[in-house]
Amino acid sequence: MKMIVEKIVDETAEVRSFRLVRADGARLEAYEPGAHVDVTAPGGVTRQYSLCGAPGDDRAYTIAVKKEPQSRGGSRALHEAVTVGSELEVGTARNLFALDPAATEHVLFAAGIGITPLLAMAYRLVERSHAFTLHYFVRSPEYAAFADLLAAPPFAHHVRFHYGVARADMPRYIDACMNAASPQAHVYTCGPGPFMDAVVACAVRSRGEEAVHLEHFQAAAPAANASATGDAAFEVAIASSGQVLPVPAGSTIVDVLAGAGIVIDTSCREGICGTCVVPLLGGTPDHRDNCLSKKEKAANDQICLCVSRACSPRLVLDL
Ligand code: FES
Repeated sequence: MKMIVEKIVDETAEVRSFRLVRADGARLEAYEPGAHVDVTAPGGVTRQYSLCGAPGDDRAYTIAVKKEPQSRGGSRALHEAVTVGSELEVGTARNLFALDPAATEHVLFAAGIGITPLLAMAYRLVERSHAFTLHYFVRSPEYAAFADLLAAPPFAHHVRFHYGVARADMPRYIDACMNAASPQAHVYTCGPGPFMDAVVACAVRSRGEEAVHLEHFQAAAPAANASATGDAAFEVAIASSGQVLPVPAGSTIVDVLAGAGIVIDTSCREGICGTCVVPLLGGTPDHRDNCLSKKEKAANDQICLCVSRACSPRLVLDL
């Protein structure tokens, strides 16, 4: 949909927030905290950004964008070419990082720009008077986006700022934060990969994988996604038609399907946004994405077509 930039705030020297309203003035569909949207910046680059406003606000989406020095057009264009009144193309909200409704307590771990989905969660948890603590790790106060908001009521009571923690000390800090919560508390994290790895390692030790939820902003390094199958060829079968298509080494399933006239919606093409996930009826996938949870991957009943491959000779897609 077309959205208009209603307000821009410099949250820090490198993070800018954008409040977006529909160009046609209509209300927005409700979304759950943790959701993200595709935003197409001037120049045509589309990126995913978490919604970080109050989820109950059906007038506007708020996103926050960190200007990345190595930006290939997404964050740089939003910082340099967008002003109040600019029109942007924005997708509908999707959520791969939801609060667990069964959890009685929540511990949120944010680092840097990873604060954005967790801020939306904090709004919801405050609104519903749920028990939670938000631990916000950041270099120093001037780099802490939304610091004033989080340091004031109704959030202040729930938020702990951790400034300048050295990487080597991170596990000890995270352990201490985790131990301050009940063993039943669910853990949510978003931030740079090494930070999330430390949070997940600590959380899994103390409460098991089912209680740990995370959101990736970037695809994992290829080495981290590598598998024993390498890039071997396999086949995909289309359940509705019986058509069988070979997927050669070096080709993705989405590209092979497109070549056969079957267009799958995609956005990131890096296995992080979830747009291209489809149900799987047969075969064993080699999951290489960062959007399905471990539980979803273990079920082997859906597959992310832009990056994942096969461990079995054939996959049967529910298309
Ligand atoms: S297009 Fe984003 S996960 Fe496949």
